[in-house]
Amino acid sequence: MITLTYTFRSPGRINLIGEHTDYNGGYVLPAAIDRYTYLTFQESDHFESYTHDLNKSVTFSIDGQRETDTWANYVKGAIFHLTKYVKKPIKPFKIDVSSTLPIGAGLSSSASLMVGIIYAISKIEKLDLDRERIAQIAHEAENEFVGVNCGIMDQYAVALAKKDNFLLIDASSGLYEYVSAMGFPKITIVDSGVKHELASGGYNTRRNECARATEMMGMQFREITLDLIESKRKTLGENVYKRAKHVVEENQRVLDTIAAIKNKDWQKVGELVKKSHESLKNLFEVSTDEIDFLVDRINALENVYGARMIGGGFGGSIIVISKSDVSLQLKEIKDAYRRQFGIEMKFYPVKLSSGVRKITQF
Ligand code: GLA
Repeated sequence: MITLTYTFRSPGRINLIGEHTDYNGGYVLPAAIDRYTYLTFQESDHFESYTHDLNKSVTFSIDGQRETDTWANYVKGAIFHLTKYVKKPIKPFKIDVSSTLPIGAGLSSSASLMVGIIYAISKIEKLDLDRERIAQIAHEAENEFVGVNCGIMDQYAVALAKKDNFLLIDASSGLYEYVSAMGFPKITIVDSGVKHELASGGYNTRRNECARATEMMGMQFREITLDLIESKRKTLGENVYKRAKHVVEENQRVLDTIAAIKNKDWQKVGELVKKSHESLKNLFEVSTDEIDFLVDRINALENVYGARMIGGGFGGSIIVISKSDVSLQLKEIKDAYRRQFGIEMKFYPVKLSSGVRKITQF
């Protein structure tokens, strides 16, 4: 019997600016990068998945039961929620997963995997789902099955990104548009080596504080002004005040960044990126000593426009926007970082890539 195999490539994502705004109905400006999860599907008589990165194989059936293994839940959850949406069983596959995208480095390896699985099955089974729908099913699966209460940015970026473009998403409506990155300076990713998942509790606390802010002010973030936040500072309490101020200012920074990109004003883009980091550190309080150590040193480099942490925070990666190659300086910073924290950091240049798609070989 001939068993058919199909191979797909699903990217990771970066976020230029707009952090902790997606679950607050705000703006985000992510892009897919040329680091991928590769998925090979082979028809089978049962569901099985093997991940080369973790050297782990799991077999499972499609039901609403969570597995004890976290990784299995990403695969099973994606297929379970797809089944739930299309309201019919999916035929079994062996899914082989390998990756050039670091896991747990704040580059959305989980959204890359889940969107990749749903997209692949929808293509193989001709389910006729558009990319927005695929992102929404993956988002629901990550929230409900895996139990991570994330916003929509990662899944939208992985599903909808276009090569050499940023993706402006308005999370209040789900509308999006492409922002050309033509002429955009070099982008380097620095992986701090501090795994960010360890702090999912911190992410949920921030979400709750933001929800409290809108509840207490009786309106959505996009209607809330800085003056209103200032006038309510005492009632809100210091933490909720700081979180709300970050969200309102960060939304404006996204819009200002788009204007700066259109004017090819890279200096301005860099300033906004630096301000975003300051705010994530001081107002939203999701940075760490390790990340700040790296960001401060990188931002002091002459050929750097700006650097900041990306993603949920509490570790993960840093985006660096620079005029020219920063490898030599980053090597020195890497040594200083090892001396200070005993942690290895990694860095690599990235290019803006396209969303998930079928490939024949890799
Ligand atoms: C994580 C979440 C996203 C977003 C960012 C913070 O990456 O998955 O939805 O909330 O944090 O901007």
